[in-house]
Amino acid sequence: MEEEKLSNMEKMVLIALRENGGEASPEKIMESGLEMVKVMNASSWLQSKGLVRIREGIRKSYSLTDEGKRILEEGLPEKNLLKKLLEGKKSFEELGEGEETGIAVGWLKRKGWCNIEKEGEKKFLVITDDGKKAVGEKSPEEDVLEALAGGAEEGLDEKVLETLKRRGAVRERENIIRTIYLTDEGKEIVGKGLEMKDEIVQLTPEIIKKGIWKDKKFREYDVKAFSPSLHPGKHHPVTQLINKIREIFVEMGFTEIKGSYVESCFWDMDVLFIPQDHPARDMQDTFYCSNPPGMEVDRDLLEKIADVHETGGNTDSKGWGYKFSGNEAKRVILRTHTTVNTIRYLANNPEPPAKIFSIEKVFRRENIDTTHLPEFYQIEGIVYEKDANFSELIGILKEFYGKMGFEKTRFRPAYFPYTEPSMEIEVEWNGKWMELGGSGMFRPEVTEPLGIREPVLAWGLGLERMAMMVLGLKDIRELYFSDIEWLKNLPLL
Ligand code: PHE
Repeated sequence: MEEEKLSNMEKMVLIALRENGGEASPEKIMESGLEMVKVMNASSWLQSKGLVRIREGIRKSYSLTDEGKRILEEGLPEKNLLKKLLEGKKSFEELGEGEETGIAVGWLKRKGWCNIEKEGEKKFLVITDDGKKAVGEKSPEEDVLEALAGGAEEGLDEKVLETLKRRGAVRERENIIRTIYLTDEGKEIVGKGLEMKDEIVQLTPEIIKKGIWKDKKFREYDVKAFSPSLHPGKHHPVTQLINKIREIFVEMGFTEIKGSYVESCFWDMDVLFIPQDHPARDMQDTFYCSNPPGMEVDRDLLEKIADVHETGGNTDSKGWGYKFSGNEAKRVILRTHTTVNTIRYLANNPEPPAKIFSIEKVFRRENIDTTHLPEFYQIEGIVYEKDANFSELIGILKEFYGKMGFEKTRFRPAYFPYTEPSMEIEVEWNGKWMELGGSGMFRPEVTEPLGIREPVLAWGLGLERMAMMVLGLKDIRELYFSDIEWLKNLPLL
């Protein structure tokens, strides 16, 4: 390797390494006046030239969590309990059933600081001799917590750290530490002495115009060189997904509509021929609003809908055969599905054709778990046109999911009070079928009272479950945790 082939930056790194006895951290080399990016750049070049090696290792560092700080201030729960036991044995009733007590008792038993004794039905906690000794002594946990609070980073007992981590009192971080060291060839070349020379690092118009470049050396570029990651602002993944879905439907000739969160039962359910005693209307499933107490409903339409529910109205249907309640219809709720958006649109625009979609939030009283949220987005849509048919519906949904990157779709018969036939849509993801939405053709009981004369194809699809698949998440809640690290590192869709 000749000196010729080295840039000034590389030479500076080599010299800094020699001055540090042949090896140094990038931070140490920075002391010679180079920025981190430049140090790493030059080092990776030097590595590819065989003059240095970069060694990477992991160093763990620890710090107190809020819980850790609390324990430090208030004392270890088991220690506090132990002090109480010094006064004499305590029954569980005296101690109270709190979570804190449970944890403390668990630790006392594990450490052999107390025994549980039974007297008849009653259970007592009794301090042991070891426990008595422990009251006056500092426990290893307390030692480590205090050391951390005092800024210690090394030489802490690993086992104790592990326990404190499990107790949520200590946070562990892994840092990559790099060491750069001279190879034999590197030592040889710095040994001979290195000289800085003029080189062009950044090309300017002047360098070209004045021909300066003719007698100078250019520094070479390394496209694989280290560079710090940049995290420019970007949309939340859910917003990105919504934008993509919007684009797909617009491409397919659909127009977007918007609705409102607060709706009447009439529009959310009655118009859709959902019987008033349907289980989904239950307080378990639907959020009812107490204010305003009711929403006005068009009287003529209310009568028509009541008639359809009671007798089937002008359709061949017999209806549900119960007494329709106008008060129930006026109740105010948070919309449970966006089918209310499309049916409102059809009521206001009964002339075909129409291709409409909406991507909006709906609300249900679901218990939150890995696949359920009480508020979530639905991708809703309709095609309203002469001769619209079921295969067209399948075609549209296949096309949509295809454009989203799901190649395999499956349709299964389903039931919704407002469609016939109805089907559920499933897509394949990692070899498993996932149910993503419902669809069907609006029944005459829905279309007739609104003056709709041509077939309507309709669907309502879940957004968040699809987002889970696209982003590879196991828990739907992760979408909304807003973990800034996760968001930063997420590639654009
Ligand atoms: N509204 C249904 C749901 O929320 C989905 C659906 C929409 C079904 C349109 C059929 C037609 O699950």
